[in-house]
Amino acid sequence: MAFVPAAGPFASFDTLRAEALGCTRCALSATRSQVVFGVGDEQARLMFVGEAPGEQEDSRGEPFVGRAGTLLTRCIEEIGLSRKEVYIANVVKCRPPNNRDPLPAEIEACRPFLAAQVAFIRPVVVVTLGNFATKLLLATKEGITRLRGREVPFGDDGAVLIPMLHPAAVLRNGGKALAETRADFVVAKRALDRQAYRPAAS
Ligand code: URA
Repeated sequence: MAFVPAAGPFASFDTLRAEALGCTRCALSATRSQVVFGVGDEQARLMFVGEAPGEQEDSRGEPFVGRAGTLLTRCIEEIGLSRKEVYIANVVKCRPPNNRDPLPAEIEACRPFLAAQVAFIRPVVVVTLGNFATKLLLATKEGITRLRGREVPFGDDGAVLIPMLHPAAVLRNGGKALAETRADFVVAKRALDRQAYRPAAS
């Protein structure tokens, strides 16, 4: 199913956040410590979408605060931005037990929250981190190793999506994966610079 950014039933970003923070739409609500909604600038031009919170994210309530997060933050800073200037969210807002993969039903239950986050933020560049985010937002079965680093048109107001390796995979695989991710961040930076002007919503 195509991923369509849409505010849906949410009147504002604050309503959306409040609804997500109290969500019981799937079984992850029973095992989470807290909902990890997202962090950063709600008007960011660059948005990252990861997979799901891990243990540290679940306990701190913020995405990408563990080792993978440290790498992500470093890559963001290497292109001259800070975590505060971008927005970071996940496909699934609650930690799957023992960091297992999110289930299709959990991804579907959470989809309206991510669709609304993207619709309210209106980033000009969306970076999907790893297979889960890439497959959901591009509605593809193609794997991340083939798709990474390519710009793909996204949504209906001129944004682009750039799939990248998940930072946890980069940590696992090291050298070549890190070089590829650094190159992909340069692609993202160029896309941001090119899309310096974002037309107002119609
Ligand atoms: N991995 C993710 O995909 N998201 C996080 O927030 C942390 C680790």
